[in-house]
Amino acid sequence: MCGIVGFIGNEQAAPILLEGLSRLEYRGYDSAGVAICDGGAGTLSVRKAKGRLQVLSDLIHGGADLPGTVGVGHTRWATHGAPSDVNSHPQVSENGRVAVVHNGIIENYAELRSFLESKGVSFVSQTDTEVIAQLIEYFYTGDLLSAVDQALHRMEGAYALGIVCADAPDQIIAVRKDNPLILGWGKGCNFIASDVTAILKHTRDVSYMNDGDLAVLTREGIQCYDHLLRPIEKEVVHVDWEVDAAEKGGYEHFMFKEIMEQPEALRRCLSPRIKDGEIVFEGLSLTPDYLRSLRRIFIVACGSSYHVGVVGKYHLEKLTRIPVEVALGSEFRYMDPIVDDKTLVIVLSQSGETLDTMAALREAKRLGAHVLSIVNVVGSSIARDSDEVLYTWAGPEIAVATTKAYTTQLALLALLAVWFGKTLGTVDEADYQAALAGFRELPEKMEQVLSCRDGIQYFASKYFNHSSIFFIGRNLDYALGLEGSLKLKEISYIHSEAYASGELKHGTISLIEEGTLVMALGTCDRLFQKTVSNVVEVKARGADVLALTTERHQEEMAHNANGVMTIPDICDLLLPSLGVVPLQLFAYYVALMRGCDIDKPRNLAKSVTVE
Ligand code: AGP
Repeated sequence: MCGIVGFIGNEQAAPILLEGLSRLEYRGYDSAGVAICDGGAGTLSVRKAKGRLQVLSDLIHGGADLPGTVGVGHTRWATHGAPSDVNSHPQVSENGRVAVVHNGIIENYAELRSFLESKGVSFVSQTDTEVIAQLIEYFYTGDLLSAVDQALHRMEGAYALGIVCADAPDQIIAVRKDNPLILGWGKGCNFIASDVTAILKHTRDVSYMNDGDLAVLTREGIQCYDHLLRPIEKEVVHVDWEVDAAEKGGYEHFMFKEIMEQPEALRRCLSPRIKDGEIVFEGLSLTPDYLRSLRRIFIVACGSSYHVGVVGKYHLEKLTRIPVEVALGSEFRYMDPIVDDKTLVIVLSQSGETLDTMAALREAKRLGAHVLSIVNVVGSSIARDSDEVLYTWAGPEIAVATTKAYTTQLALLALLAVWFGKTLGTVDEADYQAALAGFRELPEKMEQVLSCRDGIQYFASKYFNHSSIFFIGRNLDYALGLEGSLKLKEISYIHSEAYASGELKHGTISLIEEGTLVMALGTCDRLFQKTVSNVVEVKARGADVLALTTERHQEEMAHNANGVMTIPDICDLLLPSLGVVPLQLFAYYVALMRGCDIDKPRNLAKSVTVE
């Protein structure tokens, strides 16, 4: 939610900020703005505009209009105050001296605003961020760092901040609490950013800020402080992501590119972990004794990552016989979870920054659990706060709708479940080897599915005008339906729901009428006949049924459904990994045909860093 970028150097700042913001637009895209300090002229210029970044870019002619070599920029996902020019960031203090870009929420902003108003300060926006700028101004007596520090002591909530001041034109102050912010080390220039993709063109040397950290950036260097304003040293990490990985590379949409990248992402994720016929998790400290001591496993995540968790529960319980509970990050800390030192909590997050998931992680640790996270973004908050982390190595995922991050999480969690089972002795050698064979053939089989995308495009052209779609399936197919349904609704805006097939008769079947589209998921061999029965039931009530099944059942399904999408046969464990691909493609093509903004669906942002 919201993207921040800041630059201090010797080049004109505004074009660099715009370019950085273009990489962060996935974090929010309802308005954008920049604040530029021009030391020579002694000015602080702020330009901002409602709408996509392009609107701002046109307004300032690609940045050419704004001289000055120091500045901060922002792309917004509105929380307080509707998207508008005045509510866009940077927010400035009343006299225009202090400008702030903010990602997060100031929970006591109303109280702070009343306090400042009682001192005669006037506000122009509805944002919580304006309070920060005004508060810093209120405390400012010539020392910006001290004013920021005093303001922070009065602020409650979550924030990543970039601050510039007309009176201190040769510095940027950065602050982080519960929202991501990184520092980029250049040559004669330095950066702040919400994530590394925004500055990758300029530097690969970054430091991750911890909660409570402050940093003062100058052209010469970056000085960091802890929450007591004691100077601290930050480790500099070299990032090896390729710039190209965050580019569209000739594809029309990031989502399509990322769908197509899945076989490669899976190879990157799996091959280093399967060596000489064995699963190897280097660096993982979980011992057989520890696994035997577990009374329960909790999987905690949000959105698509939660759907991975639903699949993971089936796998882990089947392969380890340890009870597994899956909880939404947003619910976990309010449900009084039964968690102790005999509980392993597995946290799933692509971004590693989802606030609800992060809060759940902290609650799990407070209750004594060991936390293992599966994360894509290296160095993210969740990765750093977990007891141990497994990276998915899917590469940067830019489209808001997750695809390659989902499939790599899914495969990694399945691999972990097999390894747990082997370690505990609940998976025998034959099943272990069969599973390993499945993992080895997964990328290639996924390539086969991707190569048949024309057939899926045809079905999308047939059904893209439907206003409501039901996904049905049992067991792993039910879990798969949750993700298929979310993919479709988030990018095509078609109402869609996923049901366990057996639940249909308990209410939902009343919604089935002539022409209702039902996506019947029947990839699980042992439940196939039951799915066929459900197909027959909904067809008898007028539904149009598009089915997904494996090659071995293709013919039988074709006799019952109106259309069939097929995936190659593979071991049960990996059926959802293959099965999700036609559903991703279906959602993609439907959204394309409906003229939707696929990479930036309305109201959404990729990284949800507010509660
Ligand atoms: C799905 O396409 C979404 N991007 C969303 O549901 C996402 O999975 C969720 O917000 C969790 O994000 P995370 O994996 O980064 O924690």
